[in-house]
Amino acid sequence: MEMKWLTSLLMPLAACVAAAETPAYEWRGLHVDVSRHFFDIPVLEQVMDRMAALQLNRLHLHLTDGPGWRLEIRKYPKLTGIGAWRKALPGQAWDWRKHEIGSHFANCYGGFYTQEEMKALIAYGAARGITIVPEIDIPGHVYAALVAYPEFALEPPPGCKLGRDVLAVEKPEVVQFVKDVLDELVELFPTGTPIHLGGDEVDSRLLSIEQQRRFMQQMVNYVKAKGNPAITWDEAALNGVRGQWIMLWRAEKQAEVMALGQPVILCPNSHFYFDYPQNKAEAAPGEHVITPETVRSFRVPSSSQVLGLQGNVWTEHISTPERLFYMAFPRAEALAEICRKKQ
Ligand code: ACM
Repeated sequence: MEMKWLTSLLMPLAACVAAAETPAYEWRGLHVDVSRHFFDIPVLEQVMDRMAALQLNRLHLHLTDGPGWRLEIRKYPKLTGIGAWRKALPGQAWDWRKHEIGSHFANCYGGFYTQEEMKALIAYGAARGITIVPEIDIPGHVYAALVAYPEFALEPPPGCKLGRDVLAVEKPEVVQFVKDVLDELVELFPTGTPIHLGGDEVDSRLLSIEQQRRFMQQMVNYVKAKGNPAITWDEAALNGVRGQWIMLWRAEKQAEVMALGQPVILCPNSHFYFDYPQNKAEAAPGEHVITPETVRSFRVPSSSQVLGLQGNVWTEHISTPERLFYMAFPRAEALAEICRKKQ
């Protein structure tokens, strides 16, 4: 009799604990920028081990950017033959314009994932309930690729200091290049994997908003026609691209992006940028600090548009696995907590 009483008291409690542990959001992500600094397969496996322990389930890999292209593309071997390498500049403040891309230097830094390695990594993640989400950032942030294939570069107007970091999107051969890359990506990743197309931070003096919109819409449509959801950063959505999932990174644009009515993944730089200092002692004067408490304080809009949340780790100033883990995980734990509870 007493046991029965105890059981009836404990059952609802157990149900409560189970409910509290049930993740509230479908997308519980961590992003790692492997372009600015390269992290090899064993490091990414460790990242996923730690994610799995926290029930985080999307590893977004920022595979391409100005300082390095990190995924083998068989049709364009120079992307990794040249674009995955640069002259090592130890201790230098990071700026892509200062980097010399190429594999011919005596002292080279870099690396890339072969397609076979990526397949094994995808399987490693799948066994732990983690989907790897690849990002090919276009039409900007492509300096390394453009050193490898200069014929695809948009020439900045004379005197313009913005650099050669943007695709010449009006050229049919550039559109074909991007489609070829996406074909290999869709083939490599499991059916229906979301494909992130970037679309951030392109100066409208180089490509007008309409040029950016048209190109990104074409690529979103291309990916979707293959049966994969497309993702872009918020710029593309606010430039008028439709039909994709939006990754919101500019905190001040949240209301505007939500008003578009499309699915949104929230990774605002006010709360979820894990490369920002995590305590005052490590911050430069005036630098925005994101503590684990800052992460926990984020108020998620109550809307079915919100697919979930993500922490982003940009690696301009993170060059070792130790630093990567130090920056990512105290705050990823806080993120996992709010992913478990619908607000
Ligand atoms: C970004 O931080 N440029 C997405």
